[in-house]
Amino acid sequence: MASSISSFLCSKLFTTLILTFILLPFVPHSSSSSSSSSQVDHYIVFMDSNAMPKVFATARHWHLAILASLTAAPDNHQVASSKLIHSYSHVIDGFSCTLTSSELDALRNSDGYLHSIKDVPVKPYTTHSVEFLGLRGSGGCSASAAWEASNYGEGMIIGSIDSGVWPESRSFGDHGMGPVPARWRGECAQFNASLCNKKLIGARSFHQGLDARNITIGKNSSARDDTGHGTHTASTAAGNFVPGASFFGYAPGVAKGVAPRAHVAIYKVFHQDKGVASDVTKAIDQAIEDGVDVLSMSLGPKEVATSLYDDPVAIATFAAMEKNVFVAIAAGNGGPTPKSLSNSSPWTLVVAAGSIDREFRAELHLGNRGVSVSGLSLYPGSYLSAQAPIVFMGDCLNETATAGEALKGKIVVCQHKNQMLGYQLSNIQNSSAVGAVFIGLDAELLRVYVEDNHMKTWLPAMFMTLEEGEAVKKYIKSSSSSSSKNPRVASLRFGITNLNRRPAPMVAGYSSRGPSPASPYVLKPDIMGPGSLILAAWPPTVEVATVTDSNPPFYSTLYSD
Ligand SMILES: *[C@@H]1O[C@H](CO)[C@@H](O)[C@H](O)[C@H]1NC(C)=O
Ligand SMILES: *[C@@H]1O[C@H](CO)[C@@H](O)[C@H](O)[C@H]1NC(C)=O
Ligand SMILES: *[C@@H]1O[C@H](CO)[C@@H](O)[C@H](O)[C@H]1NC(C)=O
Ligand SMILES: *[C@@H]1O[C@H](CO)[C@@H](O)[C@H](O)[C@H]1NC(C)=O
Ligand SMILES: *[C@@H]1O[C@H](CO)[C@@H](O)[C@H](O)[C@H]1NC(C)=O
Repeated sequence: MASSISSFLCSKLFTTLILTFILLPFVPHSSSSSSSSSQVDHYIVFMDSNAMPKVFATARHWHLAILASLTAAPDNHQVASSKLIHSYSHVIDGFSCTLTSSELDALRNSDGYLHSIKDVPVKPYTTHSVEFLGLRGSGGCSASAAWEASNYGEGMIIGSIDSGVWPESRSFGDHGMGPVPARWRGECAQFNASLCNKKLIGARSFHQGLDARNITIGKNSSARDDTGHGTHTASTAAGNFVPGASFFGYAPGVAKGVAPRAHVAIYKVFHQDKGVASDVTKAIDQAIEDGVDVLSMSLGPKEVATSLYDDPVAIATFAAMEKNVFVAIAAGNGGPTPKSLSNSSPWTLVVAAGSIDREFRAELHLGNRGVSVSGLSLYPGSYLSAQAPIVFMGDCLNETATAGEALKGKIVVCQHKNQMLGYQLSNIQNSSAVGAVFIGLDAELLRVYVEDNHMKTWLPAMFMTLEEGEAVKKYIKSSSSSSSKNPRVASLRFGITNLNRRPAPMVAGYSSRGPSPASPYVLKPDIMGPGSLILAAWPPTVEVATVTDSNPPFYSTLYSD
């Protein structure tokens, strides 16, 4: 099994926009049984370490003693250790813990207490692509020269704070890698050590903050990726060269990260897309201790913070910056609304998401005409349909007209109706049509729709603008139904990659916009990187597309190949 998994290239193009949309809403499970005075919550507490009595060997002992002093229970030391989530060493002087409101009041009177903020849920975002940046491996343009001069990140250690990794992916193979730097102090703690190598040099998992909320999914402490986001972002940052990569034929080529010779250390903080700031803070703390050079983070608080003092990720990354760790962090996916920027610390490189010049297309070949019309699609595979009758069904919303065998064996053309596309698509996917063409979307809506919804599109379907669709409608109208010599037929071809889309890059609609509510005087984001439809590694166990290839529909799930 392991060898067959590792022989797979786990590849996937994806936007985190999609991931963000499929996120389950985060439901904090604070104990609801208790009365309001003993209502528990979770806090990150800042302490003045100068106030620590000399009797304590470590800060952790002191933190436990403080928590023990808050309760009169005879087993107060046990209670204290159940309340302590993490003690921090590098990012802050302090700890995270579970407290009732009366315990918090008591804590405020403890010696050395400075400040506390509520632990908050965090969510995963998106990252960046290589070819489009001009990084092609030989000199010429200045970006290439810089890439070469940096030896593709050789000797650097990049820490990925995300949902873990699929270690068998070929992007994490160590072919061509130099030795693990002697300064590295981390370890492959949450994997069988045989899964780490000269590329993947560390793996740890953090879940105590989730455990404190009685969300037990993190208790499986493996650093293995359970959603794909971490594998995708880590291989985008530092994946090794992988020839023959594609997404079911789309975007074929050699996959590689921006720093393909850098080492990678994994800090898993998302468990089934759930994560909290106390665990992220601990991951940053540990990454500093382990000796990473760069932190790559595609996450942020679920609610936009209005003050940097209340944003644990901003505070923790400040410490990282002080320790010479460079932090690159995604702007967020709250756009296009202004002031939707969740990460805006002046000391981090905040990266907005943009499109690249690549798009994925399908062609509709109109029968007897030698004419083909092109549109967008991510239907998996280089699939060529047989010639089939093509019919125009208006907005395709009349369920009586599309039900049963009415559309059996036909390619259906639908006129897009504003706000109804999901329903239109669903209605046609429920019919017995063999293919679908949706026309009348404006160019931006078209792109966004295809990127966001390709996982829900299991019928061979393509999407085009009104202008592109005119030829199709004209063909259907012009071929008189009475003429059996001139039947209205067409075929569909998928799997076409177009590399010269213009204009490019464009800021993605979903990319968070400034100004930042927390630091409005600093212009953010700093730069824009390719963030939409980026090909990178993906776990073979996480579904990326669904297809039907028979009629009545037979559903099968495609994993990355
Ligand atoms: C935690 O969850 C378990 C299982 O859902 C439940 O039995 C238990 O009462 C919960 N504990 C708290 C403190 O909410
Ligand atoms: C670790 O992996 C090696 C090689 O695949 C295997 O022989 C060993 O049994 C594994 N150890 C554990 C604890 O799973
Ligand atoms: C932990 O997660 C890994 C990867 O998803 C899985 O293979 C393993 O069975 C899980 N272990 C437990 C105890 O759930
Ligand atoms: C829906 O289609 C049926 C069957 O073709 C037709 O009888 C009916 O009039 C249509 N309804 C509308 C509102 O167009
Ligand atoms: C398509 O079928 C599914 C499953 O039966 C149903 O939930 C959905 O509402 C249908 N869609 C439309 C537009 O009727």
